[in-house]
Amino acid sequence: MRVELVTGDITVQEVDAIVNAANSSLLGGGGVDGAIHRRGGPAILDECRALRAGHYGRGLAVGEAVATTAGRLPARWVIHTVGPVFSAREDRSPLLRNCYANSLRVAAELGARSIAFPLVSSGVYRWPKEDAVAQALAVLRGSDVPTTVEDARLVLFDDATRVIAQRLL
Ligand code: APR
Repeated sequence: MRVELVTGDITVQEVDAIVNAANSSLLGGGGVDGAIHRRGGPAILDECRALRAGHYGRGLAVGEAVATTAGRLPARWVIHTVGPVFSAREDRSPLLRNCYANSLRVAAELGARSIAFPLVSSGVYRWPKEDAVAQALAVLRGSDVPTTVEDARLVLFDDATRVIAQRLL
């Protein structure tokens, strides 16, 4: 799988699947979540509500991933994942890595060939940017990546984060 770093807005990425840094409610929020729902339109929230009324009655667990339509976004699907809130006391990095691994698994199940990730947990959830990039790249460049997904983009929202990621890549 090709992994590239992109600086910009995840909502304009022309890929099959865009990953949302959601929260367990799946009912929207700020940051990436807010941008995706705002640009993608109500169809996304409608499907999120249906998920909550069905299999995800208690919400989406941290580290898990589930797909909906992408509404008006250029992508075909939004894959919602819930990152862990950063903790200095306990190591939650396996949960953060699960976000990327499970999103890739869902993308493969959908038949998505290309996927764009935000830097999950590195905003409201306060994960330090450098380690957030390291965890993402550890999964995206790992050996057990599904073969059907050919292209992955890590979309960084600002140049400072891009510089950090470039150094790690
Ligand atoms: N495109 C790409 N990256 C973005 C965008 C965007 N439009 N908006 C924000 N980012 C970046 C942030 O700068 C940060 O580096 O995405 C990263 C993740 O930030 P958040 O969106 O705050 O996500 P997270 O830290 O995982 O917190 C999730 O925030 O928005 C709420 O509902 C969401 O409760 C959930 C929590």
